[in-house]
Amino acid sequence: MGKNLIYKRRSIRSFSDEDVSDSLIEEIIKDASHAPSWQNSQPWHVYVAKDDVLDRIKAEYKTAQSNNLPSHTDITTPHRANRSELSLHNIEEWGESVKEAIGEEGTQLPEFQEARADMFHAPVIAYLTTSNQASEFTFYDMGAFGQTLMLSATSWGIGTIPAYALVAHPDILKKELRIPDDQEIVVGIAMGYPDESKLNCIKTERAEVSDILDIRK
Ligand SMILES: Cc1cc2nc3c(=O)[nH]c(=O)nc-3n(C[C@H](O)[C@H](O)[C@H](O)COP(=O)(O)O)c2cc1C
Repeated sequence: MGKNLIYKRRSIRSFSDEDVSDSLIEEIIKDASHAPSWQNSQPWHVYVAKDDVLDRIKAEYKTAQSNNLPSHTDITTPHRANRSELSLHNIEEWGESVKEAIGEEGTQLPEFQEARADMFHAPVIAYLTTSNQASEFTFYDMGAFGQTLMLSATSWGIGTIPAYALVAHPDILKKELRIPDDQEIVVGIAMGYPDESKLNCIKTERAEVSDILDIRK
């Protein structure tokens, strides 16, 4: 069961408008809270946007984008220059997987761009936050929480995608979600029921185990 969930989960980039009930969201967040954390400190908080709040966030994001407002995030983004050769290769392969599923235009396909601009049409977005004084180890805890959340969602037939695109305007999110000043937004995870779009046919590859594993004896 556990192994199936790991392989069943993949990023969903187009959701139907079917609601995810508050009680199911609570169930999924309860599962996620069983992730390991430093001294069981559980340094996470989740702000879920849905209904009117999410509609307002989507509208404000679209305005920000059409006004070319520069995007930024609370936490630092990885720099291409600091990537390993293997990571750069994997990123290229990702581009190929996208083209294989949706055509030569890849991420430039209008359907892809529109979905991203509309937050993948998601009915629910879970924003994971932590203290703005967090240490690097805290981000380990936050990642574990996020993956547990996504595996739990998968077990309920709910699709997910963690995305930079969702957190690119933190000021809008902090205002609409009433996130306290001492919190920073780590990531947004869109959730919902996958629709029939070809955007949901993107299947990514992984590097060989031998490329990422050294067993020393
Ligand atoms: C921190 C993070 C940010 C991401 N941001 C985006 C994004 O902005 N747009 C997008 O289409 N996918 C985004 N993704 C999804 C990745 O592209 C995806 O996880 C990766 O290609 C592996 O595919 P899979 O999730 O289907 O296994 C993000 C993933 C992570 C972990």
